[in-house]
Amino acid sequence: MTEPTPAAAHDLGGEIPADRTLAFDGVGVELAGTRILSDVTLSLAERRIAVIGENGSGKSTFARLLGGLVAPTRGRVSIHGHDLVAGRKHVRRLVGSVFSNPDAQIIMPTVAEDVAFSLRRRGLGKAEIAERVDATLERYGLAERADAPAHSLSGGQKQLLALCAVLIAEPSVIVADEPTALLDGRNSRLISGLLLDELPQQVVLVTHDLELAARCDVAVRFEGGRLLEVDAPAGVIARYRQDLG
Ligand SMILES: Nc1ncnc2c1ncn2[C@@H]1O[C@H](COP(=O)(O)OP(=O)(O)OP(=O)(O)O)[C@@H](O)[C@H]1O
Ligand SMILES: [Mg+2]
Repeated sequence: MTEPTPAAAHDLGGEIPADRTLAFDGVGVELAGTRILSDVTLSLAERRIAVIGENGSGKSTFARLLGGLVAPTRGRVSIHGHDLVAGRKHVRRLVGSVFSNPDAQIIMPTVAEDVAFSLRRRGLGKAEIAERVDATLERYGLAERADAPAHSLSGGQKQLLALCAVLIAEPSVIVADEPTALLDGRNSRLISGLLLDELPQQVVLVTHDLELAARCDVAVRFEGGRLLEVDAPAGVIARYRQDLG
């Protein structure tokens, strides 16, 4: 895969908001009668936020809350000053989500169509959409594959495509739930480098890769559906490693 040029990664912006606080106040989530998250209260304004914890601890549910994919059954969530529930339409534009499985994120038949799909209902003309899609694919090294079937890309390219589909919509925060879990070392470095070092957006990174978590500005640890701690990554990770044994 072609490496994106450093300049390219920097100018694909999204507005950088003055208030980048992610605030949770007494938040709980129940799904199908089961309590999945309880009493989550925290406020985060760091750019790179790691979310760690054991399997089933509630990380993905936390990520899905931020992405507007599950609703809080208790409490309030606000994203950059906008209430997640009351301001749902706006919040949906603020947040972009990527997941582990790049195949599951492909919506449209070709690479270019898949990226263009993110700009639907924005009131943009065809020519402008095409221009933005071309520019995004060019920046991230996928231009040559623009008309290829999206499913024909390699796993790493598909994850890059998923990220392009998020970035073209210019979110202020990117929620990435184990985005490198299925990638080889090189593509994992590419995607994590973009998320943690190159993009200007706030990033919430759910990961079992504790080296990636260590590169973040703050780490949040969940256990059994509850927030266990929020602190500088080194300490949170060290205590987590100890508990894992
Ligand atoms: N839709 C749902 N209905 C019922 N239970 C659910 C649902 N989604 C998640 N859960 C349960 O909630 C708990 C937390 O799940 P979640 O996916 O948030 O964990 P996780 O920390 O992301 O785990 P992993 O590291 O394995 O991805 C698990 O016990 C899971 O089985
Ligand atoms: Mg998960």
